Amino acid sequence: MKILITGACGFQGTKIVPILLKKKYKVIAVDTMWFGNRLKKHKNLKIKKKNITDLVSKDLKGVNIVLHLASIANDPMGDLKQHLTWEYSCLGTMKLADLCIKNKVKKIIYASSASVYGVKRERNVIEELSLEPISTYNKAKMIAERVLLSYKKKINISIIRPATVCGVGPRMRFDLSVNMLTYQAIKNKKITVFGGDQIRPNIHIDDLLRLYIKFFSNNKKYNGIFNAGFENLSIMEIAKLVKSKIPCEIIKIKNVNDVRSYRVNSEKLLKLGFIPKKKVVDAIREVNDKYKKNINNLDKRFFSIDWLKKNFHE
Ligand SMILES: NC(=O)c1ccc[n+]([C@@H]2O[C@H](COP(=O)([O-])OP(=O)(O)OC[C@H]3O[C@@H](n4cnc5c(N)ncnc54)[C@H](O)[C@@H]3O)[C@@H](O)[C@H]2O)c1
Repeated sequence: MKILITGACGFQGTKIVPILLKKKYKVIAVDTMWFGNRLKKHKNLKIKKKNITDLVSKDLKGVNIVLHLASIANDPMGDLKQHLTWEYSCLGTMKLADLCIKNKVKKIIYASSASVYGVKRERNVIEELSLEPISTYNKAKMIAERVLLSYKKKINISIIRPATVCGVGPRMRFDLSVNMLTYQAIKNKKITVFGGDQIRPNIHIDDLLRLYIKFFSNNKKYNGIFNAGFENLSIMEIAKLVKSKIPCEIIKIKNVNDVRSYRVNSEKLLKLGFIPKKKVVDAIREVNDKYKKNINNLDKRFFSIDWLKKNFHE
């Protein structure tokens, strides 16, 4: 089975590629490499430094499944060059879907985002609720979902709305809430929380990667939209969990710098038999174990927004 992964050199991509190679899949990794490339050479891996908007038909030749992870991957980054956020998420996704149909690819799995819900007071945010995206990143994700759904009669489409991902990977991200607060606790022995009441759902990276692989099946029950978030915690609750593992002071700032607040309900996914195995505390422990010794010597590309502000030359 041949899988093409867009955004394959990112946080999720770099971690899933070796798992797939171990499972004997053939993998084509497509990425602009804004954050470098930490994928190791392998006989069943082809790495293409390419924007998804520049893909051509032969890139998709013989591909069975596309895992579409490429995107300017959070709100502040999406604001840096908004026209590119739209172009890559929406037009790039359209181009990819057209090429998939042309090459008889069986399925596209798309990493959307639970942030498409925006601010939701409902206790159970299920897939059918209206979307109220706030940022350009969230809006472009919503439109990309709709672009893909317009192809659903011609190809299997699975859209996953992951919660904020936590945990470690070879291309690390410290801009994600659990990872960021854990980083602050290790480095400064202090965590700064803005507001703190905003609710954020979470998913461990290892669970999300298992989920993508489960969705490789062409069984129609995996078609459609699925929330993927299992611990709905306030930012303050996350900070307290970090403090329970890494001694530190929590500093609360009244001003809220990011108003997004929503709790996702992932019953639809759980009913398919998917069981998450890891929790936020596991991610905190893993980040601490991996980075406590070299916290002052990290790759600058792990801080995505700061890195792109200086190095986004598209
Ligand atoms: N990490 C999270 O918390 C989270 C939560 C929900 C959804 N997502 C989505 O999951 C996907 C993967 O996220 P990640 O955490 O691995 O992010 P990441 O930033 O680490 O990886 C994204 C990768 O895509 C590449 N890329 C971006 N635009 C591209 C383009 N037009 N063509 C080719 N390559 C391109 C980048 O170079 C990068 O390597 C993204 O679509 C993101 O929006 C992430």
